[in-house]
Amino acid sequence: MTNFENIMKKIEANAEVVGVIGLGYVGLPLAVSFAKQGISVLGFEKSDKKAESVNNAKNYIGDVKDEDLNYVVKEVKKLSATTDFSRIQDCDAVIICVPTPLDHFKKPDMKFIEQSCMDIGEYMKAGTFISLESTTYPTTTEDFMRPIIEKQSGLKEGRDFWLCFSPERVDPGNKDYKTDNTPKVVGALGAEAQTIAVALYGKAIQYLYPVSSPRVAEMVKILENTYRLINISLINELALLAGKMDINIWEVIDAAKSKPYGFQAFYPGPGIGGHCIPLDPFYLEHIAKSFNFDLTMINTAGNINNQMPHKMMNKIMYALNRKQKSMNGATILFLGVAYKPDIDDPRESPALLVMEECAKKRANVIYHDPYINECIDDHGKKWIGMDLTDELLVQADCVVFTTNHSCFNIEHIVAKSSLVVDLRNAVKTVHIESDKVFKL
Ligand SMILES: NC(=O)c1ccc[n+]([C@@H]2O[C@H](COP(=O)([O-])OP(=O)(O)OC[C@H]3O[C@@H](n4cnc5c(N)ncnc54)[C@H](O)[C@@H]3O)[C@@H](O)[C@H]2O)c1
Repeated sequence: MTNFENIMKKIEANAEVVGVIGLGYVGLPLAVSFAKQGISVLGFEKSDKKAESVNNAKNYIGDVKDEDLNYVVKEVKKLSATTDFSRIQDCDAVIICVPTPLDHFKKPDMKFIEQSCMDIGEYMKAGTFISLESTTYPTTTEDFMRPIIEKQSGLKEGRDFWLCFSPERVDPGNKDYKTDNTPKVVGALGAEAQTIAVALYGKAIQYLYPVSSPRVAEMVKILENTYRLINISLINELALLAGKMDINIWEVIDAAKSKPYGFQAFYPGPGIGGHCIPLDPFYLEHIAKSFNFDLTMINTAGNINNQMPHKMMNKIMYALNRKQKSMNGATILFLGVAYKPDIDDPRESPALLVMEECAKKRANVIYHDPYINECIDDHGKKWIGMDLTDELLVQADCVVFTTNHSCFNIEHIVAKSSLVVDLRNAVKTVHIESDKVFKL
């Protein structure tokens, strides 16, 4: 039996073992989705703590249901986690879900993907299907991963193992779309790889969209995120102008939305956050440079967004000034450090950048977030959240809405506060400036 026949036979019999490398926001939901279909899943983690949590069915990802994790780990015993990478040899398919951050110079930091390729190359058996889900620049699968795995393993892609790229599209906090019902793009290298990819992913994911190559799939993901980056930047810039012109941008967007075609609403805010939109377009920029190509729109969009936290600090300073108070010495309470509503993720959150800017101006900065008790900013400073009490609201010289968590009691917060800066249109009733509320 050939390697291809062997893996297809296993997939048909639900007898394949799927390895998932990196059990974070992307990897853990994916591992649970496969395990729920009765497939044996082995999670590989660098963090002992996460591997132990999974093995004890202790959930740490908001998008995973506690009962689902408990079911696959404790009841049917289809998911377990390990820090022993030699067990990659037990897997028929390995899916990589490790981070792809930028370094200090805004260049792709590929060390996590590189390490995973080294681990796979060292331990995999011939006949393994490998898929990358981490967001990255087009050509990564073919030109970055393939040589590392081939060199480390001594095996040949297309004959001894197969490669695929299938971008994760998870939208943390989305109540309707989860890993298993979000359409998934799959682009594998060669016909055999694509057949395996469709057969394997098709068991855990309801809708697949096969494309002709990994580089097309890589570009799809970058297109989706660049589209958001550019549109959010556009609306942020227009919001700044509208503020100067005494126009409520939120009212403008609502009215524009009444057009039934040709317009999609994007909303302004203190900047762009999360693990994807602030970072991914710069992955594309990196590879574009090697083709002697400048992506000017991405550059401009990034530039606008980078300036937003500073502009928001100015807005707060302006609001304090209207109350004859200075930023220096003012107590400023930030509501929400998550980068989007109703989630517990502060990564790349613009709220933290605005907080840093205000602290630099010697404000006494404090925060409350019902989902995040503590967090660390880009400069390694640890912030500890406070309980939201009436006393805290009354004591603050300024209360800033940085994340529109749906559990915030807006009316009550505004009633108890002496000054509010609303960067998220939390307070719907005021124009752009009232005695008490200043809006973006
Ligand atoms: N979070 C999202 O909303 C989202 C959405 C779509 C795509 N993505 C992309 O998916 C990828 C993963 O993102 P995430 O949010 O899940 O990150 P994460 O930080 O939540 O999870 C990554 C996990 O990988 C582990 N890890 C790091 N190096 C490892 C290694 N060598 N071996 C094993 N485990 C390792 C970390 O300990 C961590 O648990 C990134 O490329 C990201 O851009 C994320």
